[in-house]
Amino acid sequence: MAALSIRDLEVRFPGLAQPALAIPALDLDRGARVAVSGPSGCGKTTLLNVLSGLEKIGHGHVAWADTDLSRLGEGARDRWRAAHVGLVMQDFHLFPGLSALENVLLPQRLGCWRLQPSKRVEALRLLERVGLPNPRQPVETLSRGQMQRVAVARALIARPEILIADEPTASLDAEAGAAVADLLLDLAQEAQATLIVATHDPRLAGRLSRTLRLDAGRLAA
Ligand SMILES: Nc1ncnc2c1ncn2[C@@H]1O[C@H](COP(=O)(O)OP(=O)(O)OP(=O)(O)O)[C@@H](O)[C@H]1O
Ligand SMILES: [Mg+2]
Repeated sequence: MAALSIRDLEVRFPGLAQPALAIPALDLDRGARVAVSGPSGCGKTTLLNVLSGLEKIGHGHVAWADTDLSRLGEGARDRWRAAHVGLVMQDFHLFPGLSALENVLLPQRLGCWRLQPSKRVEALRLLERVGLPNPRQPVETLSRGQMQRVAVARALIARPEILIADEPTASLDAEAGAAVADLLLDLAQEAQATLIVATHDPRLAGRLSRTLRLDAGRLAA
């Protein structure tokens, strides 16, 4: 279902003479595990934002299976993302004051006014799976590695077929980063999700099956 097809993509930002992203054609198979690498400012985050439907597509087509994101408005892209994409960001994007469990459940709570009990069971299972000892612990008291594990669990709660991570290990020390990388790879495999990870970490990139190298918004050979 989640095969990706990009055609004639161009993303421009005001004030930039060159497009931030220019990709004539790119295809990924369902279940692909891809690293996106390249120097700071080369367009990695912009590409992930396009692929997750966060960024409006000014020119060209970006289709996941038969959904062409370039034809959807912002609201439709948001609904599509909630149903199909799990996101993990460099700086976690967790809500302080809420427990690990409540953070994992938050997207579900926003999606419907009454939480299904099975979702709570699933959130607890995921938190156990990512190795979090106390699901009731307020997130602001967790270690950084634990915070990212909570973010990984939250990304998976809706059983997405696409998992997108933007430098998920960049703000962690080597040991915590390796643990989070292991989790992302293992959980994407278990869920048979397509995994796309922007990273500067050669060890993480080396464990994915393909690396897309960006240079000034263009795919390097
Ligand atoms: N909203 C925006 N408005 C204007 N320019 C932007 C915007 N977002 C990104 N850019 C520009 O687009 C280019 C690509 O940025 P992007 O954040 O995708 O790079 P990156 O590869 O993720 O870098 P890093 O490794 O530092 O995270 C940069 O020149 C950046 O300044
Ligand atoms: Mg970035």
